[in-house]
Amino acid sequence: GADVEVDISAIEPGQLIRVMWRSKPVWIVRRTPQILESLSQHEDKLKDPGSEAQQQPGFAQNQYRSLKEEYLILVGICTHLGCSPQYLKGGAFEEVVQGVPDGFFCPCHGSKFDMAGRVFQSVPAPLNLVVPPYQFVDDVTVIIG
Ligand code: FES
Repeated sequence: GADVEVDISAIEPGQLIRVMWRSKPVWIVRRTPQILESLSQHEDKLKDPGSEAQQQPGFAQNQYRSLKEEYLILVGICTHLGCSPQYLKGGAFEEVVQGVPDGFFCPCHGSKFDMAGRVFQSVPAPLNLVVPPYQFVDDVTVIIG
């Protein structure tokens, strides 16, 4: 059907790959231990740190918003008006949010999201980025859909 099978074995730590699923861009990011650690350090700057304002798969209802903490899988579409946010990594996001080295920045109207796709305060996007349904069939193969 419309499900997409992705081999994630070659994704380097910190790298993002894009796949298309139902005409939407889906991001798969391999998060480093440092990125995972940073998630708990800026929750006071987020609109909805617990993702309570939206429906998302039950498996993502945790602090990492993912099935496996190392892999972040999101629909890469801004929840404001649908632009595609940029991935700023390795310290580049510090210019957007001080003290947060990695994240996503939407160039259209300046919305900012962390490495779990959670939206920062004082931006137009109302909701966290969407987690699509997905499952792992083995350690290196994920099916989106
Ligand atoms: Fe992303 Fe407006 S579409 S901030």
